[in-house]
Amino acid sequence: MRYPVEPFRVKVVEPIDLPTKEERERLLVEARYNLFKIPSEKVFIDFLTDSGTGALSQSQWAAMMEADESYAGPRSWFHLKRSIEEFTGYEDPIPVHQGRAAEKLLASLYLHEGAGVVSNTLFDTTRGNFTAVGAKIYDAPTPEAQDLSSDHPFKGNVDLNRLEDLLKRGGIKLVVMVMTNNTGGGQPVDLDNLKEAYGITRKYGVPLIIDACRISENSYLVKKRNPKYSNWSVKDIVLESFKHSDGAFMSGKKDGLSNMGGFLVLRDPQKRLRAKELLILWEGFIHYGGLSGRDMESLAVGLMESLDERYLEYRTGQVAYLTERIRETGWDVMWPPGGHAVYVEVRNALSHIPREQFPAHSLVVELYRRGGIRTVEVGSLMFKDAARYEFVRFAIPRRMYLQSHLDYTVEVLEDIYRDRDKLRGYRITYEPPFLRHFLAELEPIA
Ligand SMILES: Cc1ncc(COP(=O)(O)O)c(C=O)c1O
Repeated sequence: MRYPVEPFRVKVVEPIDLPTKEERERLLVEARYNLFKIPSEKVFIDFLTDSGTGALSQSQWAAMMEADESYAGPRSWFHLKRSIEEFTGYEDPIPVHQGRAAEKLLASLYLHEGAGVVSNTLFDTTRGNFTAVGAKIYDAPTPEAQDLSSDHPFKGNVDLNRLEDLLKRGGIKLVVMVMTNNTGGGQPVDLDNLKEAYGITRKYGVPLIIDACRISENSYLVKKRNPKYSNWSVKDIVLESFKHSDGAFMSGKKDGLSNMGGFLVLRDPQKRLRAKELLILWEGFIHYGGLSGRDMESLAVGLMESLDERYLEYRTGQVAYLTERIRETGWDVMWPPGGHAVYVEVRNALSHIPREQFPAHSLVVELYRRGGIRTVEVGSLMFKDAARYEFVRFAIPRRMYLQSHLDYTVEVLEDIYRDRDKLRGYRITYEPPFLRHFLAELEPIA
């Protein structure tokens, strides 16, 4: 079967509507061509992010009804604590309201002006938090990651030789393995690559931290793509991954299957203590870390549901279906399919738009103009000169859209591909100092 049958049925529906052509054009102008500024009610199909946007299960809603909203020692915290401990194998976790709060804690705990960080490719908020304290970031993806169309199963891997070279040189204070590698095309990291990387970091006494927000999807892809682990359960692959780290942080808005939440786990008890002191200053008491009891219940249940292999088969199957169908329309895509999103690389198809004029953003705008579809640029607009690709990312919210939504998206892309020569570039008219894509204002180049 080409499209995976959803292992659930719909119980509650949320209406969606396609605004008129004129309205879409007006909204684009009002939003200064930045899709983050378009009201979501005016979006027909929203692939902006898979972060916090998925559907909750009946078990999550049931647990949320029973949440304990006490400030200290709430039952919901102990539920979440047990769940994180079972999921990660780490003890004494620290709750945070979302991933970037953990990144800020990590920056304070491990980094300072001039400290080096090596990663398979840091995500933008992590990069923002680390550079905000003056750290220097070294992305070390493998050469295979640069080859969009090869079948290499683990393009999220870190380049082990470069990692070792950088560690040898000194000044590196932290290594971060992002699993799956969102910025590098949602590609998985092989468990064996993580194990080797961990061996190297131990040799140089530098802590390795996992950015675990999509660790369940990563582990399912390890099971499917590395024959050594084909008989392992996903739960065991997840646990084995965490064993090869000195800590981890997770935005629970992804594989936590929740709308909000996250956590930080650390092997070193001194660092944990310091993290808790800072948590109280920035996020809230150590028994909620910025979360309501309801959020904690949702995350406690969601973490366990993300390990369900029938769910993961459907989840990764849906991403594979959309990737394959888009590739058939003529657009280049990051191949093989990753865990949570389709990445369309526009440099070939839109070769008439130079990188300084944000060709991927041009497709982002056109998708909304023609189809009310919202996506995000992951290229020169997001990463400036550090961009290695000009991607448009179609992040699929979890358990939300059905096959017809994806088929509609493919038809709109097909239509744009035929007219691609008519697309124009953009220039920035305003940009903030950090994470500019969120607030940037743009205008089309005549
Ligand atoms: C790989 C990765 N790391 C970290 C984060 C940050 O998490 P949050 O949005 O919860 O702050 C994200 C969010 O998209 C992500 O994809």
